[in-house]
Amino acid sequence: MKIKKAVFPVAGLGTRFLPATKASPKEMMPLVDKPLIQYVVEEAIDAGIEEMIMITGRGKNAIEDHFDISFELEHTLKGKNNNKLLEEVQRISNLVDFWYIRQKEPLGLGHAILRTKDLIGDEPFAVLLGDDIIHSNVPAIKQLIQVYEKYNASVIAVEKVDKKEISSYGVIAPKEIEDRVYQIMDMVEKPPPSEAPSDLAIIGRYILTPQIFEALEKTDADKSGEIQLTNGLRRLLKHQVIYAHQFEGKRYDAGNKLGFLKATVEFALRRPDLGKDFREYLRSLRVDEFMS
Ligand code: UTP
Repeated sequence: MKIKKAVFPVAGLGTRFLPATKASPKEMMPLVDKPLIQYVVEEAIDAGIEEMIMITGRGKNAIEDHFDISFELEHTLKGKNNNKLLEEVQRISNLVDFWYIRQKEPLGLGHAILRTKDLIGDEPFAVLLGDDIIHSNVPAIKQLIQVYEKYNASVIAVEKVDKKEISSYGVIAPKEIEDRVYQIMDMVEKPPPSEAPSDLAIIGRYILTPQIFEALEKTDADKSGEIQLTNGLRRLLKHQVIYAHQFEGKRYDAGNKLGFLKATVEFALRRPDLGKDFREYLRSLRVDEFMS
């Protein structure tokens, strides 16, 4: 069955970016001049997905406005004959349909995804997290769709991560099926390095079968009161085979400060309009002068 819908959970509090995220959504922070959420929406569009479902919460209205038409702005740009910018601001709202669902309280990623049960219905769907920005030739979610189409089962993106960082991720116990494709035998949320079943960490891209909803409904909240997607997937694993795909591309953890800075620098360096000047500026910097 074709993957037509993508879910974007954006109801988290973004505490790692306070105070910036006190009144503005983390997902609207820009890499150069484009908000994080737009990168992942464009990734889904490039993979042929037509319906975008955002799970929002309080204080996230800017996301809805961003993908809507902006009458005053478009009117002003038309008046100034600035067609290039006009096209740019109109492009996304014209391309696909957006749906918004509220998660009243941030009770975890699993809880957020469960909110979409009625809108998704009985079909497989994609999930993309704006915390993970992936630069690749083939959109990462499209790579997962290709694996889904071959095996007809849920597929989760994974990446090799340093042992010392592994305890920040969900980690899979893999059985290799083909190059870069694994059958998941088990998965653990944020294990201590000594207990991690592999160095393959779960990254924020998923193709999920609709049976995930039943699994999430039966999944208890953890100690922090949140329903974790990884725990829902573990339950699903008892009834269905789930695969992992080690995607090709460079992933940036834009949900933490250092990862966000790295992404900003590298995306700016890749930009045809900025890259050259920015590279010269970076070369001229005497970085040691900034250390006190
Ligand atoms: P994170 O825990 O990484 O994001 O959730 P966060 O909660 O926004 O950020 P920190 O950790 O407090 O800094 C991963 C993704 O799941 C969404 C988040 O918006 C993020 O995209 N999420 C998380 C929800 O939509 N609802 C939740 O209850 C929790």
